[in-house]
Order: sequence, then structure tokens, then C-alpha cells
Amino acid sequence: MSKNHKHLISLILGLCYCSITILSAYADYAIKEADPHSYAQPNVVQTTALVLDLTTQFETQKLFGSAELTLKWQNKKAQELILDTNNLLIKKVEALNDGRWSTVEFKLDTQDAVLGAALHIQLPNQNSKVRINYETQPDSEGLQWLEPSQTAGKKYPFMYTQSEPIKARTWIPCQDTPAIRFTYTAKIHTPKELRAVMSADNPLTTAKNGVYEFNMPQKIPSYLVALAVGDIAAKSTGPRTAVFTESSMLNIAAKEFEDTEKMVQITEKLYDHYQWERYDILVLPPSFPVGGMENPRLTFATPTIIAGDKSLVGVIAHELAHSWSGNLVTNAAWRHIWLNEGITTYVQGRIVEAIYGRERANQEFIIASHKLANDLKELPEVDQRLVPDFNGRNPRDVFTRVPYIKGAWFLRTLEEKFGRDAFDPVLKGYFKQFAFKSATTEDFVNYIKVNLIDKYPERYSMAQVNAWLYQGGIPSDALMPKSERFIANDALRVQWLNGTINTAGLKAEKWATQDWQYFLDQLPSDLSYNQMQSLDNVYHLSGTKNAEVGVRWYKHAIESQYLPAYPEMRKHMISIGRHILIYPLYQELVKTKEGYTYARVVYAEARPGYHHSVRNALDKLLKLRK
Ligand code: BES
Ligand code: ZN
Repeated sequence: MSKNHKHLISLILGLCYCSITILSAYADYAIKEADPHSYAQPNVVQTTALVLDLTTQFETQKLFGSAELTLKWQNKKAQELILDTNNLLIKKVEALNDGRWSTVEFKLDTQDAVLGAALHIQLPNQNSKVRINYETQPDSEGLQWLEPSQTAGKKYPFMYTQSEPIKARTWIPCQDTPAIRFTYTAKIHTPKELRAVMSADNPLTTAKNGVYEFNMPQKIPSYLVALAVGDIAAKSTGPRTAVFTESSMLNIAAKEFEDTEKMVQITEKLYDHYQWERYDILVLPPSFPVGGMENPRLTFATPTIIAGDKSLVGVIAHELAHSWSGNLVTNAAWRHIWLNEGITTYVQGRIVEAIYGRERANQEFIIASHKLANDLKELPEVDQRLVPDFNGRNPRDVFTRVPYIKGAWFLRTLEEKFGRDAFDPVLKGYFKQFAFKSATTEDFVNYIKVNLIDKYPERYSMAQVNAWLYQGGIPSDALMPKSERFIANDALRVQWLNGTINTAGLKAEKWATQDWQYFLDQLPSDLSYNQMQSLDNVYHLSGTKNAEVGVRWYKHAIESQYLPAYPEMRKHMISIGRHILIYPLYQELVKTKEGYTYARVVYAEARPGYHHSVRNALDKLLKLRK
């Protein structure tokens, strides 16, 4: 082929590419890339609204009722709607035809272990609405049903949902992909004495008849639909903030989270106004498997972040930050999770800095980056990239520290290289550009290329940007903050380890949570029994009220066979269900034969109180099943 020919071909290809880009920019429904974790076909049809009518039946641990979807057809020839379901009993499907509902045919595929089963609904008339009658199964993985004994009040049962990443389909038949957004309304029927709350508008008063109605007028992806039912009370903490939780927890939760309105204001100053009207927090029973879940208007949170001194409210800053990164601009598919979690972790740091000071924000980042460094030693290179390949894998596995901490580190580096004056408006502009839409990494990269890199090409290059995104490890231009307190902490640790000072000489009585986290993380794993005993005698670490300190202390106790800590460790493992606070302990225990036996005994007692996702992980670790 002649040189001219080659040029001509690349010119034509270039033009085609341009016109495709222009077309998709105009059609806002255009789907940017296929989501390998959903059977839905967004290029054929998209849900625009959802109406739920569900009854919570605690005796059978089931939700039953209907989901009505409003459809927008994208393809004139299509005759079929495909929904995601997982472990649902589909009873009847109806479609709206000329103002009348009539039953239509459906077929449920065989169940895939990760993705669930595609529900095929024949709609030759391209109906505008479809209604599915269904019920959930007691072992639905998106729902957790708690006995009264597993709650703070011990009198009433409790249930809550956790839909991210792909568990919405275990309680709602839907297009379960973050690429599609819809509004929703819901009518929830509960036992009269219990209250329902959702990721929607939540009145501060209860209904007498056990019927609760909700409205979420903004479009959200399926993984943000959330429901909880229990003996829940509410207390206002500001003009647009409140906490919801069991009554015995209400006052301490309201006190711990009293800075929430300040957090909202700080974030608004940085990235434009808060779009979700209210920001409330629901504190769940201790089985809640994650620190927090950014359900819009109503963050779900673990009670383990209530330390009494606000030292762990970074989690609230994190969930609030998702109101911009994640809920407003959503990752288009799960391999772009860093757009949700990395940007959020970065914004979390900015909120913590504004309210609790730069020193604390830097400390929290340093602690996290050391954890990341440890994880990177174990992770295969492909999973160290900010954008990994997740085809054919469980999207749950994308939630490593890489998208969180490496993602935040990337943005911190950009911030340093360009300065806040240049960088802050760019992130704000990105949120504005993609508000209520989904985004891919390429969208983000194009945005910062045009608005940042090309403007100041001498400060950072696209090659440097791409190294963060598409290569393993941490690029050598990554900037690490310093903490004066941690430098002093390093010196004390070295002196204590070599015997220059004794345990009282650490003068740790007034240490903050972050000082303890850092100190315990940096200690070697082969402390002697005497060193452990001495720390425990002077600082009473066994039985600590702070679960983040606890998990670190008990890990050392296992490593050093410091048995006096075990009774308190056992209590920690039985009373807490948050994955990250218990899994590392089981992981350490199973390394020895006696440890494994002990882990099995504790697990037998603790397992009923754990969430499905945690049970699955631990069943595998303890070799109770494949
Ligand atoms: N979106 C996540 C919660 C999540 C993680 C759901 C994995 C499903 C799978 C939430 O925003 C989060 O990241 N929580 C962290 C908070 C922490 C990083 C401050 C958590 O749970 O620990
Ligand atoms: Zn998050």
C-alpha cells in the first residue's frame, strides 16, 4: 500500500471515529461500553422510573410485592426486555397496553453463580410499562434479616439491603447496571411497630399504620436503591441533616455526627451545591458488612465508627463525598470503580482537612497508603492498575485498596503538580459536565486533558497520567505527605523496640486513634509476649472501645500468641460484622493449626450475625466450602 493510501485510510478512520463520538455526545442515552456484569441491554431499552410496592415479612424473611418499570425503547425493532434477577421467585409479569394491564409471557434463564438469571419478557408492542410480581428468598444476598437479639434494643427484628455492586437484582428485578439511571417511588408495608427508611425522602415522623411511602425524584443507578426496616428513631442534627438509628443509639450517634452539616458546606464550597436536598445517616446494627454505604439522601453506616471522639468520622466524609463522585457522576461499569472510590477518597481527605486539620487528613492518608503498599506485594500486576480488566470476574473483587488509595493518590499528585487554584475548578467542572450521567475513565482523562494538562503541559504529561491508570505499582512521581506526629511516633517506636525507653516512656496516654493505628501498623509482627503484656498493662488495649485500634491490636496478639487478649478479641469478632475489622483476624488465625481450631469455634458462634458477603468470604477462608 502506498504512503498516500495509508494516510487516506487513517483520515477516513479518524473521521468515522469523530462522527461516532459526536453522535454519542448528542444522544444522552448512548451507552459508552458494555457492562459485562449485567444481562440488561441498554441499547435496546432503558428503565426511566421504578415503582416498588413491597411487604416486609419477618416471619418468613421475605419481601413480596411488585416492581413496575417505565421503559424507554431505543431500538425500533426490539420486542424483548431483559432484566437482571438473582434468586427471585417471579410469579407474574404484566404489561400496559392501551391503558390496560395484561399478563405477558416471560422466561427465566438458568442461574449463573455470579450474575444470577436473565429474565426475558416478550413485549412485541414495545409497551411503556411492565409490572413484575415477585418475592425474594430468605437467603437473598442483598438482604439481611436480623433477629431481635442481633439488634441494640433486643426487642424487634431488623432488615436492611446492601445492593452495591450487583445485589439489587436479588431483591428487585431490574436493569442492574450503573450505566442506567431511573427515578423511583416506593410503598413499603411493615409490621405496625417498625419503621421503613429508604435512599429517598425520609419523613422525620413514623407512620401509624405501617405503610411508608417514598419518592426519589432524581435519577440514580440501581445499586443505590436501599431499604431498611426496624425499630428506628430519628434525631435532627442540622437544617438538612439527621441521624436515624435504634433509640438507644440515637444520642451518641447524633453527637458523634454533629459536624455533618459543616461537612456538607465544605464540600459545596469546593464542588458546587449539594444536589440531594437532605443528607441523613442511618446507623445500622453491628452486622453491617461495610463502613458506610453512600445510599443517596441516607448514608448507611456501621456503628463501629462511633468511637466517642469523632476520630472515625472520616467514613462519613467519605460517604458524603460520594454525593458528587459516584451518585452524581457514576462509574459506567465496575472496572471504572476508581472514578467512584478513588475520587471519593480524595474528596474525603479534603473534607477531613477542612474540619479536623491538614495533619489529620495527611495521617489518614499515610495510614491508608501503607496498607496499600502491603497489598501491592500480594496483588498480581494486572490488578494493581487503576483500571483493571474485570470481564468474567465477580465485580465484588474490584473493591481492593487500589481504586481507593491509588486513585486518591493520583488526584493528590495532580493537585500538588497543578496547585489547588488550577485543580479544584477542574474536578468541579468534571462533576458538572457528567452530573446525573455515568462516566468512564476515558471521559475523565479527556476532561482533564483538555481542561488541565493541555493548559499547563510543563507541569504534568499525559504519559504520566496514563502510567497511573494503566500500569501496576505506584508511579515514582507520586507525592507522599509528611506528618510531624508520625515522624515522632517512628522515633518512639524505634527507641521502644531497642529498649532505649520503656513502655511508660512512650507517653501514649493521650494518643489519638490515628497515632495508635500508625504505631500498631508499623510494629513488627514478632513482638515478644512480654512486649505485648507490657503494652496491655500500661495502655489497656485489650477490650479497647475503638474497633480500628482493636483489629490492629488483636492481630499482634495472634502473631505473638498473647492469649490474655483472646477473650476480648473473641467478643470483638462476635459483636462486629464489618468485613475489614474481622477478616484480617481470621486470616491471621488460620496460619497455625491451633489458630485454625480457635477460628472455627469463634466462627461457629459469630456466623449467624454476619452478612452473606462476609459469610461467603469466611466460609472460603476456613475451607467450609469451595
Ligand atoms: N461504596 C462503598 C461500600 C461498598 C464497598 C459497597 C464494597 C459494596 C462493596 C463505600 O463508599 C465505602 O467505600 N466504604 C468504606 C469507607 C472507607 C473507605 C472510608 C468502608 O466500608 O470501609
Ligand atoms: Zn466509597
